[in-house]
Amino acid sequence: MVAATNIRKSFGDREVLRGVDISAEKGSTTVILGPSGSGKTTLLRCLNLLERPDGGILRIGEQTVDMAKATRRELLALRRKTGFVFQQYGLFHNMTALQNVRLGLTDAQRLPRAEADARARECLAQVGMLDRADAYPSELSGGQKQRVGIARAAALRPEVILMDEPTSALDPELVGGVLEILRGLAQDGVTMIIVTHELAFAAQAADQVLFMDGGAVVEQGPPEQVLQNPRGERMKQFLRRMPEMGFAAGI
Ligand SMILES: Nc1ncnc2c1ncn2[C@@H]1O[C@H](COP(=O)(O)OP(=O)(O)OP(=O)(O)O)[C@@H](O)[C@H]1O
Ligand SMILES: [Mg+2]
Repeated sequence: MVAATNIRKSFGDREVLRGVDISAEKGSTTVILGPSGSGKTTLLRCLNLLERPDGGILRIGEQTVDMAKATRRELLALRRKTGFVFQQYGLFHNMTALQNVRLGLTDAQRLPRAEADARARECLAQVGMLDRADAYPSELSGGQKQRVGIARAAALRPEVILMDEPTSALDPELVGGVLEILRGLAQDGVTMIIVTHELAFAAQAADQVLFMDGGAVVEQGPPEQVLQNPRGERMKQFLRRMPEMGFAAGI
């Protein structure tokens, strides 16, 4: 499970996260919504320690770290518990799909080559990409690249996979396939925290939805509550502007 309490982050004198709390049960799917600039990416980067929070307490699995006094070693250990899926895939262009997925297994996790190879192939199979294992990113569509990106994060078997708008760089007809993979991961019990604007996905697959505004979580709850019966005016306003507003009946 993940439990972050009072996470704060400023860039210079701009306060970007103003004390965010987020907790996600093992095997649950959390969707984070919010307008541009509300701090969604920064929050994911803080949970992954790509950015070091200025303060707050972060618990992932069995490890709890107070950001105010964390040592480098603690931060590294915590970081290994999370996987990250980037909006722009973040694959190495000079490596095949298989090599991209295998790299973290041999380098970070020091698995023997044969074992790493087997696990990488298994993860590529899970996202329907085993037949393209030897393709380079330039030979793959956006949706295929993102499926490799997901396989790479999942292969490390992290306690939680963080995803920053995993479908927003994709052509519309490729979005469905990637969301299908995410639904599969959710059913397999992978803990996921996903920033996305895909409300249909949130409604069907999320256990909880968080809405961020101005560096804080301003609504949270099960999708049917947050999406269909939001309390705050800011959330209602946000939903009204979304293209798929068929969902939020009554607002
Ligand atoms: N490295 C940085 N240095 C300075 N300011 C930053 C940095 N990263 C983010 N910010 C600022 O923090 C705020 C939140 O940014 P963030 O990227 O977290 O928003 P977001 O909710 O992910 O937005 P979007 O939906 O556009 O991706 C913005 O005002 C942004 O300009
Ligand atoms: Mg962002």
